[in-house]
Amino acid sequence: MAKPIFVLNGPTLNMLGTREPEIYGTQTLADIEAMVRDRAASCDLTIDFRQSSSEGQLVDWILEARDKACGIILNGAAYTHTSVALADAISASELPVVEVHISNIFKREDFRHHSYVSPVSLGVICGLGPIGYLLAVEALKSHLDG
Ligand code: DQA
Repeated sequence: MAKPIFVLNGPTLNMLGTREPEIYGTQTLADIEAMVRDRAASCDLTIDFRQSSSEGQLVDWILEARDKACGIILNGAAYTHTSVALADAISASELPVVEVHISNIFKREDFRHHSYVSPVSLGVICGLGPIGYLLAVEALKSHLDG
């Protein structure tokens, strides 16, 4: 069995659909998971989709991915802007990581303009809404196929 892509979602993304819909839209995280699962299947990939609001849990999942996944799609949410621990875990995972944000973090408050995740990621997709997760699947597919 080929290894799945871990799709990891950080704090408060479990509130999508009701959380600030003018910024994040009306789709729920379950809606996004279903879309990502379909797109992955059409790329002959599988996904393991998770959400946690705990930084340590996200670190543990990134390290778990090192052996169990072929790549990671990470929306670290607020930890993107604060977490050296997420960056260190990504480096230790030695996996291709695509950083995704639903909103355009560069159009928003200054504190969202810096990401600890970007320098250790394969690439970054932001500001395109939930479609960004689908583009990330395709980017990983293309990267993994060389
Ligand atoms: C986010 C952007 C972050 O700045 C914010 O803290 C989030 C969501 C996004 O998907 O747009 O929680 O990662």
